[in-house]
Amino acid sequence: MQCQPELSQRAVALKPSLTLEISAKAKALQNDGRDICSLSAGEPDFNTPDFITEAAREALSSGLTRYGPAAGDPELREAIAKKLTRENGCPTTAGQVLVTNGGKQAIYNLFQVLLNPGDEVLIPAPYWLSYPEIAALAGAVGVTVPTSAESGFQLDLTQLESRITPRTRLLVLNSPGNPTGRVSSLDELKALADVLRRHPRVMVMSDEIYEHLLAEGQVHHSFAAVAEDLRDRCFTVNGFAKGWAMTGWRLGYLSGPESVIKAAAALQSQSTSNVCSFAQRGALAALQGSLDCVHAMAGSYNSRRELLCNGLRSIEGITLVAPQGAFYAFPQLPQNAPPSLEFCKRALEGEGLALVPGIAFGDDRCVRFSCAVSSEIIDDGLNRFRRVLKTF
Ligand SMILES: Cc1ncc(COP(=O)(O)O)c(C=O)c1O
Repeated sequence: MQCQPELSQRAVALKPSLTLEISAKAKALQNDGRDICSLSAGEPDFNTPDFITEAAREALSSGLTRYGPAAGDPELREAIAKKLTRENGCPTTAGQVLVTNGGKQAIYNLFQVLLNPGDEVLIPAPYWLSYPEIAALAGAVGVTVPTSAESGFQLDLTQLESRITPRTRLLVLNSPGNPTGRVSSLDELKALADVLRRHPRVMVMSDEIYEHLLAEGQVHHSFAAVAEDLRDRCFTVNGFAKGWAMTGWRLGYLSGPESVIKAAAALQSQSTSNVCSFAQRGALAALQGSLDCVHAMAGSYNSRRELLCNGLRSIEGITLVAPQGAFYAFPQLPQNAPPSLEFCKRALEGEGLALVPGIAFGDDRCVRFSCAVSSEIIDDGLNRFRRVLKTF
Protein backbone atom coordinates (compact mmCIF):
# COMPACT_ATOMS: atom_id res chain seq x y z
CA MET A 1 0.00 0.00 0.00
CA GLN A 2 1.32 3.45 -0.93
CA CYS A 3 1.24 6.05 1.80
CA GLN A 4 0.84 9.77 1.10
CA PRO A 5 3.66 12.05 2.24
CA GLU A 6 2.47 14.08 5.21
CA LEU A 7 2.09 17.77 4.48
CA SER A 8 3.21 20.56 6.79
CA GLN A 9 0.54 22.27 8.88
CA ARG A 10 1.19 25.39 6.82
CA ALA A 11 0.37 23.61 3.60
CA VAL A 12 -2.68 21.91 5.02
CA ALA A 13 -4.07 25.24 6.28
CA LEU A 14 -3.47 27.04 2.97
CA LYS A 15 -6.49 27.81 0.78
CA PRO A 16 -5.67 27.88 -2.94
CA SER A 17 -6.72 31.06 -4.77
CA LEU A 18 -10.46 30.74 -5.53
CA THR A 19 -10.25 33.25 -8.39
CA LEU A 20 -7.60 31.19 -10.20
CA GLU A 21 -9.60 28.03 -9.45
CA ILE A 22 -12.83 29.45 -10.93
CA SER A 23 -11.08 30.74 -14.06
CA ALA A 24 -9.53 27.28 -14.48
CA LYS A 25 -12.90 25.54 -13.99
CA ALA A 26 -14.56 27.86 -16.52
CA LYS A 27 -11.76 27.14 -19.03
CA ALA A 28 -12.06 23.38 -18.47
CA LEU A 29 -15.84 23.51 -19.09
CA GLN A 30 -15.19 25.56 -22.22
CA ASN A 31 -12.69 22.97 -23.44
CA ASP A 32 -15.41 20.34 -22.92
CA GLY A 33 -17.56 22.27 -25.37
CA ARG A 34 -19.80 24.18 -22.91
CA ASP A 35 -20.83 27.71 -23.86
CA ILE A 36 -19.18 29.69 -21.05
CA CYS A 37 -19.31 33.41 -20.36
CA SER A 38 -16.53 34.29 -17.95
CA LEU A 39 -16.51 37.52 -15.99
CA SER A 40 -14.20 36.06 -13.39
CA ALA A 41 -10.77 37.09 -14.68
CA GLY A 42 -8.60 39.38 -12.61
CA GLU A 43 -6.38 40.45 -15.47
CA PRO A 44 -6.32 42.91 -18.35
CA ASP A 45 -7.54 41.61 -21.70
CA PHE A 46 -4.97 43.72 -23.57
CA ASN A 47 -1.58 42.62 -24.81
CA THR A 48 1.49 44.19 -23.23
CA PRO A 49 2.35 47.36 -25.23
CA ASP A 50 4.85 46.69 -28.03
CA PHE A 51 7.61 49.01 -26.82
CA ILE A 52 7.80 46.99 -23.60
CA THR A 53 7.99 43.57 -25.27
CA GLU A 54 10.50 45.03 -27.71
CA ALA A 55 12.77 46.16 -24.84
CA ALA A 56 12.66 42.67 -23.30
CA ARG A 57 13.31 41.07 -26.71
CA GLU A 58 16.35 43.28 -27.22
CA ALA A 59 17.64 42.41 -23.75
CA LEU A 60 17.23 38.73 -24.55
CA SER A 61 19.00 39.07 -27.90
CA SER A 62 21.84 40.96 -26.28
CA GLY A 63 22.42 38.06 -23.85
CA LEU A 64 20.85 39.37 -20.67
CA THR A 65 20.18 35.83 -19.53
CA ARG A 66 22.28 35.47 -16.41
CA TYR A 67 21.72 35.90 -12.68
CA GLY A 68 21.37 39.50 -11.55
CA PRO A 69 21.34 41.18 -8.14
CA ALA A 70 18.66 39.52 -5.97
CA ALA A 71 17.07 42.87 -5.07
CA GLY A 72 16.65 43.83 -8.74
CA ASP A 73 18.63 45.59 -11.47
CA PRO A 74 20.08 48.85 -10.15
CA GLU A 75 18.63 50.80 -13.15
CA LEU A 76 15.14 49.47 -12.47
CA ARG A 77 15.36 50.12 -8.72
CA GLU A 78 16.49 53.65 -9.51
CA ALA A 79 13.66 54.19 -12.02
CA ILE A 80 11.07 52.92 -9.51
CA ALA A 81 12.51 55.19 -6.80
CA LYS A 82 12.24 58.18 -9.18
CA LYS A 83 8.67 57.25 -10.10
CA LEU A 84 7.64 57.02 -6.43
CA THR A 85 9.34 60.34 -5.71
CA ARG A 86 7.94 62.26 -8.68
CA GLU A 87 4.55 60.69 -9.36
CA ASN A 88 3.52 59.59 -5.90
CA GLY A 89 5.14 62.28 -3.77
CA CYS A 90 7.08 59.72 -1.70
CA PRO A 91 10.81 60.65 -1.69
CA THR A 92 12.46 57.26 -2.26
CA THR A 93 16.01 56.03 -2.92
CA ALA A 94 16.95 52.93 -4.93
CA GLY A 95 17.99 51.24 -1.66
CA GLN A 96 14.41 51.53 -0.46
CA VAL A 97 13.09 49.50 -3.41
CA LEU A 98 12.95 45.74 -3.92
CA VAL A 99 11.99 44.33 -7.34
CA THR A 100 9.79 41.27 -6.81
CA ASN A 101 8.14 38.46 -8.70
CA GLY A 102 4.84 40.35 -8.97
CA GLY A 103 3.07 42.39 -6.33
CA LYS A 104 2.21 39.11 -4.64
CA GLN A 105 5.81 38.32 -3.77
CA ALA A 106 6.28 41.88 -2.49
CA ILE A 107 3.48 41.22 0.01
CA TYR A 108 4.75 37.73 0.83
CA ASN A 109 8.30 38.94 1.49
CA LEU A 110 7.12 41.87 3.57
CA PHE A 111 4.90 39.72 5.78
CA GLN A 112 7.67 37.15 6.20
CA VAL A 113 10.20 39.71 7.43
CA LEU A 114 7.84 41.79 9.59
CA LEU A 115 5.53 39.32 11.27
CA ASN A 116 5.99 36.80 14.05
CA PRO A 117 3.67 33.91 14.87
CA GLY A 118 0.59 35.25 16.66
CA ASP A 119 0.98 38.82 15.36
CA GLU A 120 -2.22 40.37 14.06
CA VAL A 121 -2.76 41.96 10.66
CA LEU A 122 -5.78 44.23 10.23
CA ILE A 123 -7.48 43.59 6.91
CA PRO A 124 -10.49 45.71 5.93
CA ALA A 125 -13.09 43.55 4.16
CA PRO A 126 -13.92 43.06 1.35
CA TYR A 127 -10.23 42.36 0.72
CA TRP A 128 -8.07 40.87 -2.00
CA LEU A 129 -8.23 37.18 -1.16
CA SER A 130 -4.49 36.57 -0.83
CA TYR A 131 -3.88 38.91 2.15
CA PRO A 132 -5.20 36.57 4.88
CA GLU A 133 -3.46 33.54 3.36
CA ILE A 134 -0.11 35.33 3.04
CA ALA A 135 -0.48 36.53 6.65
CA ALA A 136 -1.21 32.94 7.75
CA LEU A 137 1.91 31.72 5.92
CA ALA A 138 3.90 34.06 8.16
CA GLY A 139 2.17 32.53 11.21
CA ALA A 140 0.20 35.74 11.73
CA VAL A 141 -3.53 36.12 12.22
CA GLY A 142 -5.62 38.15 9.80
CA VAL A 143 -8.17 40.24 11.70
CA THR A 144 -10.85 41.47 9.34
CA VAL A 145 -12.54 44.83 9.75
CA PRO A 146 -15.88 44.48 7.97
CA THR A 147 -17.42 47.19 5.81
CA SER A 148 -20.68 46.86 3.93
CA ALA A 149 -22.28 47.76 0.64
CA GLU A 150 -24.88 49.75 2.62
CA SER A 151 -22.15 52.10 3.88
CA GLY A 152 -20.38 52.28 0.52
CA PHE A 153 -17.63 49.92 1.79
CA GLN A 154 -16.24 52.83 3.81
CA LEU A 155 -13.95 51.84 6.66
CA ASP A 156 -15.35 52.80 10.06
CA LEU A 157 -12.35 54.15 11.94
CA THR A 158 -13.89 53.58 15.37
CA GLN A 159 -14.40 49.95 14.47
CA LEU A 160 -10.87 49.75 13.11
CA GLU A 161 -9.37 51.22 16.25
CA SER A 162 -11.41 48.91 18.48
CA ARG A 163 -9.67 45.96 16.82
CA ILE A 164 -6.15 47.21 17.55
CA THR A 165 -4.54 45.12 20.29
CA PRO A 166 -0.97 44.86 21.63
CA ARG A 167 -0.45 42.11 19.01
CA THR A 168 -1.47 44.28 16.04
CA ARG A 169 1.56 44.86 13.81
CA LEU A 170 0.23 45.80 10.41
CA LEU A 171 -2.73 47.39 8.65
CA VAL A 172 -3.42 46.51 5.01
CA LEU A 173 -4.71 49.22 2.68
CA ASN A 174 -5.69 48.71 -0.94
CA SER A 175 -6.79 51.59 -3.14
CA PRO A 176 -8.12 51.36 -5.80
CA GLY A 177 -9.46 48.20 -4.23
CA ASN A 178 -10.03 44.68 -5.44
CA PRO A 179 -12.89 43.59 -5.43
CA THR A 180 -14.87 46.79 -4.72
CA GLY A 181 -13.04 49.26 -6.99
CA ARG A 182 -13.21 51.73 -4.12
CA VAL A 183 -10.71 54.62 -4.14
CA SER A 184 -9.74 56.12 -0.77
CA SER A 185 -10.06 59.89 -0.64
CA LEU A 186 -7.35 62.18 0.70
CA ASP A 187 -9.50 63.07 3.72
CA GLU A 188 -10.10 59.40 4.53
CA LEU A 189 -6.38 58.65 4.42
CA LYS A 190 -5.60 61.66 6.60
CA ALA A 191 -8.17 60.55 9.17
CA LEU A 192 -6.68 57.06 9.08
CA ALA A 193 -3.20 58.50 9.66
CA ASP A 194 -4.56 60.26 12.77
CA VAL A 195 -5.69 56.89 14.15
CA LEU A 196 -2.30 55.34 13.41
CA ARG A 197 -0.46 58.17 15.18
CA ARG A 198 -2.10 56.92 18.38
CA HIS A 199 -0.70 53.41 17.76
CA PRO A 200 3.04 53.67 17.08
CA ARG A 201 3.56 49.91 16.83
CA VAL A 202 1.15 49.48 13.92
CA MET A 203 2.74 49.57 10.46
CA VAL A 204 0.95 50.03 7.15
CA MET A 205 1.14 48.21 3.85
CA SER A 206 -0.50 50.15 1.04
CA ASP A 207 -1.20 48.03 -2.04
CA GLU A 208 -1.47 50.45 -4.95
CA ILE A 209 -1.33 48.02 -7.86
CA TYR A 210 -4.44 49.52 -9.54
CA GLU A 211 -3.24 53.12 -9.15
CA HIS A 212 -3.50 53.95 -12.86
CA LEU A 213 -6.96 52.43 -13.35
CA LEU A 214 -9.20 55.24 -12.16
CA ALA A 215 -12.72 56.22 -13.15
CA GLU A 216 -13.22 59.72 -14.56
CA GLY A 217 -12.51 62.39 -11.93
CA GLN A 218 -10.85 60.06 -9.40
CA VAL A 219 -7.39 60.77 -7.97
CA HIS A 220 -5.01 58.24 -6.46
CA HIS A 221 -3.18 59.12 -3.24
CA SER A 222 -0.27 57.12 -1.90
CA PHE A 223 -0.59 56.63 1.84
CA ALA A 224 3.15 57.23 2.34
CA ALA A 225 2.76 60.69 0.76
CA VAL A 226 -0.28 61.59 2.84
CA ALA A 227 1.34 60.76 6.18
CA GLU A 228 4.97 61.87 5.89
CA ASP A 229 5.62 61.50 9.62
CA LEU A 230 4.57 57.82 9.42
CA ARG A 231 6.90 57.01 6.54
CA ASP A 232 9.25 55.01 8.74
CA ARG A 233 6.45 52.44 9.20
CA CYS A 234 4.86 52.65 5.79
CA PHE A 235 5.33 50.17 2.94
CA THR A 236 4.08 50.52 -0.61
CA VAL A 237 3.36 47.56 -2.89
CA ASN A 238 2.92 48.06 -6.59
CA GLY A 239 3.60 46.34 -9.90
CA PHE A 240 3.27 46.33 -13.65
CA ALA A 241 0.61 43.62 -14.05
CA LYS A 242 -2.56 45.70 -14.07
CA GLY A 243 -1.53 49.10 -15.42
CA TRP A 244 0.66 47.86 -18.28
CA ALA A 245 -1.12 44.53 -18.93
CA MET A 246 1.92 42.54 -17.80
CA THR A 247 0.39 39.85 -15.58
CA GLY A 248 2.52 37.02 -16.94
CA TRP A 249 5.79 38.94 -16.65
CA ARG A 250 5.70 38.67 -12.87
CA LEU A 251 7.04 42.10 -12.04
CA GLY A 252 6.23 44.01 -8.90
CA TYR A 253 7.96 45.99 -6.20
CA LEU A 254 8.05 46.82 -2.54
CA SER A 255 9.26 50.11 -1.13
CA GLY A 256 9.75 51.27 2.43
CA PRO A 257 12.38 51.71 5.13
CA GLU A 258 15.75 50.43 3.93
CA SER A 259 16.39 48.03 6.83
CA VAL A 260 13.22 46.10 5.97
CA ILE A 261 13.93 46.19 2.24
CA LYS A 262 17.37 44.69 3.00
CA ALA A 263 15.78 41.90 5.04
CA ALA A 264 13.25 41.23 2.26
CA ALA A 265 16.08 41.19 -0.30
CA ALA A 266 17.97 38.65 1.85
CA LEU A 267 14.84 36.48 1.95
CA GLN A 268 14.54 36.78 -1.83
CA SER A 269 18.22 35.87 -2.24
CA GLN A 270 17.57 32.61 -0.36
CA SER A 271 14.30 31.79 -2.09
CA THR A 272 13.68 32.95 -5.66
CA SER A 273 16.75 35.16 -6.40
CA ASN A 274 16.36 37.91 -8.97
CA VAL A 275 13.24 38.45 -11.06
CA CYS A 276 13.82 37.29 -14.68
CA SER A 277 16.60 39.57 -15.94
CA PHE A 278 15.28 40.38 -19.41
CA ALA A 279 11.73 40.89 -18.08
CA GLN A 280 13.13 43.62 -15.81
CA ARG A 281 14.21 45.50 -18.96
CA GLY A 282 10.59 45.48 -20.09
CA ALA A 283 9.56 47.04 -16.78
CA LEU A 284 12.29 49.66 -17.13
CA ALA A 285 10.98 50.55 -20.59
CA ALA A 286 7.45 50.80 -19.16
CA LEU A 287 8.59 53.34 -16.58
CA GLN A 288 10.70 55.30 -19.02
CA GLY A 289 8.01 55.36 -21.72
CA SER A 290 4.89 57.47 -22.02
CA LEU A 291 1.83 56.63 -19.92
CA ASP A 292 -0.42 57.11 -22.96
CA CYS A 293 -0.85 53.35 -23.41
CA VAL A 294 -1.84 52.96 -19.74
CA HIS A 295 -4.35 55.80 -19.98
CA ALA A 296 -5.84 54.34 -23.16
CA MET A 297 -6.39 50.97 -21.44
CA ALA A 298 -7.81 52.72 -18.35
CA GLY A 299 -10.23 54.64 -20.61
CA SER A 300 -11.41 51.41 -22.14
CA TYR A 301 -12.03 49.83 -18.71
CA ASN A 302 -13.96 52.97 -17.76
CA SER A 303 -16.44 52.67 -20.60
CA ARG A 304 -16.83 48.91 -20.06
CA ARG A 305 -17.21 49.40 -16.30
CA GLU A 306 -20.01 51.90 -17.03
CA LEU A 307 -21.73 49.39 -19.29
CA LEU A 308 -21.49 46.71 -16.60
CA CYS A 309 -22.63 49.01 -13.79
CA ASN A 310 -25.56 50.43 -15.76
CA GLY A 311 -26.70 46.88 -16.46
CA LEU A 312 -26.35 45.86 -12.81
CA ARG A 313 -28.18 48.96 -11.60
CA SER A 314 -31.15 48.12 -13.82
CA ILE A 315 -31.65 44.77 -12.05
CA GLU A 316 -34.16 44.79 -9.21
CA GLY A 317 -32.84 43.87 -5.78
CA ILE A 318 -29.18 44.51 -6.61
CA THR A 319 -27.22 46.95 -4.44
CA LEU A 320 -24.27 48.39 -6.29
CA VAL A 321 -21.63 50.68 -4.82
CA ALA A 322 -20.21 52.40 -7.88
CA PRO A 323 -16.61 51.27 -8.35
CA GLN A 324 -14.22 54.23 -8.76
CA GLY A 325 -11.28 52.31 -10.17
CA ALA A 326 -9.73 48.91 -11.02
CA PHE A 327 -11.80 46.74 -13.40
CA TYR A 328 -14.38 45.11 -11.16
CA ALA A 329 -17.90 45.59 -9.86
CA PHE A 330 -18.96 43.98 -6.58
CA PRO A 331 -22.76 44.02 -6.41
CA GLN A 332 -24.69 42.73 -3.43
CA LEU A 333 -27.18 40.02 -4.34
CA PRO A 334 -30.91 40.33 -3.57
CA GLN A 335 -32.12 39.18 -0.14
CA ASN A 336 -33.63 35.95 -1.51
CA ALA A 337 -30.40 34.81 -3.22
CA PRO A 338 -28.34 32.01 -1.62
CA PRO A 339 -24.84 32.58 -0.20
CA SER A 340 -22.30 33.65 -2.81
CA LEU A 341 -20.56 30.30 -3.39
CA GLU A 342 -23.85 28.50 -3.92
CA PHE A 343 -24.99 31.31 -6.21
CA CYS A 344 -21.81 31.15 -8.31
CA LYS A 345 -21.99 27.34 -8.58
CA ARG A 346 -25.56 27.62 -9.87
CA ALA A 347 -24.58 30.43 -12.26
CA LEU A 348 -21.75 28.34 -13.72
CA GLU A 349 -23.61 25.05 -13.89
CA GLY A 350 -26.99 26.45 -14.94
CA GLU A 351 -26.13 29.38 -17.19
CA GLY A 352 -22.44 28.87 -17.92
CA LEU A 353 -21.69 32.20 -16.19
CA ALA A 354 -18.39 32.40 -14.28
CA LEU A 355 -18.30 34.96 -11.45
CA VAL A 356 -16.23 34.99 -8.27
CA PRO A 357 -18.16 34.45 -5.01
CA GLY A 358 -17.85 37.30 -2.52
CA ILE A 359 -17.02 34.84 0.27
CA ALA A 360 -13.51 34.64 -1.22
CA PHE A 361 -13.15 38.36 -0.45
CA GLY A 362 -14.82 38.25 2.96
CA ASP A 363 -18.36 39.30 1.93
CA ASP A 364 -20.76 36.43 1.34
CA ARG A 365 -23.61 38.63 0.09
CA CYS A 366 -21.76 39.88 -2.99
CA VAL A 367 -20.25 38.49 -6.20
CA ARG A 368 -17.38 39.92 -8.25
CA PHE A 369 -17.75 40.78 -11.92
CA SER A 370 -14.75 41.73 -14.03
CA CYS A 371 -15.14 44.21 -16.88
CA ALA A 372 -11.78 43.33 -18.48
CA VAL A 373 -13.70 41.55 -21.26
CA SER A 374 -15.44 42.76 -24.43
CA SER A 375 -18.71 44.72 -24.31
CA GLU A 376 -20.44 41.74 -25.98
CA ILE A 377 -19.30 39.42 -23.18
CA ILE A 378 -20.48 41.95 -20.57
CA ASP A 379 -23.94 42.12 -22.22
CA ASP A 380 -24.10 38.35 -22.50
CA GLY A 381 -23.00 38.01 -18.84
CA LEU A 382 -25.68 40.45 -17.67
CA ASN A 383 -28.38 38.49 -19.51
CA ARG A 384 -27.21 35.22 -17.98
CA PHE A 385 -27.04 36.88 -14.54
CA ARG A 386 -30.68 38.05 -14.90
CA ARG A 387 -31.70 34.49 -15.77
CA VAL A 388 -29.87 33.03 -12.76
CA LEU A 389 -31.59 35.52 -10.46
CA LYS A 390 -34.99 34.44 -11.78
CA THR A 391 -34.38 30.91 -10.48
CA PHE A 392 -34.58 32.05 -6.83
C1 LIG B 1 -5.09 43.98 -4.98
C2 LIG B 1 -4.04 43.15 -5.61
N1 LIG B 1 -2.79 43.20 -5.14
C3 LIG B 1 -1.80 42.47 -5.66
C4 LIG B 1 -2.03 41.63 -6.73
C5 LIG B 1 -0.87 40.80 -7.25
O1 LIG B 1 -0.51 41.14 -8.51
P1 LIG B 1 0.73 40.46 -9.24
O2 LIG B 1 0.16 39.79 -10.44
O3 LIG B 1 1.65 41.61 -9.58
O4 LIG B 1 1.37 39.51 -8.30
C6 LIG B 1 -3.32 41.50 -7.26
C7 LIG B 1 -3.62 40.57 -8.34
O5 LIG B 1 -4.72 40.24 -8.67
C8 LIG B 1 -4.35 42.30 -6.70
O6 LIG B 1 -5.60 42.25 -7.17
